[in-house]
Amino acid sequence: MRYTTAGESHGRALVAIVSDVPAGVSLDAASIDAELVRRQIGYGRGGRMKIESDRAIVLSGVRFGRTIGSPVALTIGNRDWDNWTDVMSVWGSDEDVARLTAPRPGHADLAGCQKTGAGDIRDILERASARETAARVASGAIAKALLRHLGVSVESFVQSIGDVALVEGHDISKVDAVVVEASDVRCPDDAVAARMRSAIDMAKEAGESLGGVFVVLAKGLVPGLGGYAQADQRLDAKLGSAVFSIPAIKGVEFGDGFALAARPGSHAHDAIRYSPDAGVQRDTNRAGGLEGGMTNGEILVVRAAMKPIPTLMTPLASFDLVSGAAVDASRERSDVCAVPAAAVVAEAEVALVLASAYAAKFGGDCVSDMIAALDAYRARLAP
Ligand SMILES: Cc1cc2nc3c(=O)[nH]c(=O)nc-3n(C[C@H](O)[C@H](O)[C@H](O)COP(=O)(O)O)c2cc1C
Repeated sequence: MRYTTAGESHGRALVAIVSDVPAGVSLDAASIDAELVRRQIGYGRGGRMKIESDRAIVLSGVRFGRTIGSPVALTIGNRDWDNWTDVMSVWGSDEDVARLTAPRPGHADLAGCQKTGAGDIRDILERASARETAARVASGAIAKALLRHLGVSVESFVQSIGDVALVEGHDISKVDAVVVEASDVRCPDDAVAARMRSAIDMAKEAGESLGGVFVVLAKGLVPGLGGYAQADQRLDAKLGSAVFSIPAIKGVEFGDGFALAARPGSHAHDAIRYSPDAGVQRDTNRAGGLEGGMTNGEILVVRAAMKPIPTLMTPLASFDLVSGAAVDASRERSDVCAVPAAAVVAEAEVALVLASAYAAKFGGDCVSDMIAALDAYRARLAP
């Protein structure tokens, strides 16, 4: 399953085309829109989130609530478009439109203008803006719908915002998805969540922004998804690439990741037990569900670090692209912290990779064939 997107942040609409969707996936508009809403909410989001209430309109690939094996095309309207018809006019003139010429450190502004020769940073930021991730989340909703047929769920929680974090070694298996969904910072611990909100308030007050760390979990996976035989089959590489494709993600690890480097081998790997009744079992999941480029049947644990939002209300130094004079970086309406939203985007990216991995192993033409192949595989693996 693969997707491509189009659309500018303040243009008429976002567009996504999702290809290689098996026939027979049950879909409904409400579940796609529910994912879009999950991406929108979150403590620390900017004013725009109050304007936009995202809804996907599916244009193709679905008939009577089921995919038919053709590409699924969808659009998500930009509710603010009416206020931007001059600035984002497709055919009009830029004569009376103020140009943005003070690039923001940490954003695509400067390198984007250098790369394309643009004289107005808006040409760059409209597409580099994370508004585009709404189209990814809608695409991911289709992948999640397929995964539901296969008994797989993908969820996430926020581990830290700024320097406020869950206690080290927080037990991932005890994270309650209901509590996370009810939390506007996607944090499973109410006391830590309150401190995260205070940190965001303080950052906002100071014209600052915050990043953080989130975790994506995928449950119900069979072992053997991905591959060990070629570089481009390795599931860790695909997952890493997908999560790194999200703007502002600067680190990705699986399971205990970087911490493994400092441990002796006996404390880095997950001993294997077998019993004829229960089959293969592990007491630990330091590998985060991946060994040798494949799933190993444990919960997939993907952890990602997001840098702080680059748009600052107390801007960093920059320069004017036209005059060369030192100026403050430009300001756009902006989030103070978008870590909870980024976690939802990462769920979508992970779901798309996993859906493709299932299609590669169990056939991607139709859901019923996939389920039959999956059942046969499970029967072969059964103790
Ligand atoms: C969900 C989400 C929301 C974001 N919101 C903003 C924002 O409001 N303002 C901003 O300057 N950057 C925002 N960002 C971050 C920028 O998109 C990102 O920092 C920028 O593209 C540069 O990051 P890069 O160097 O990783 O490409 C957001 C990112 C995500 C994932």
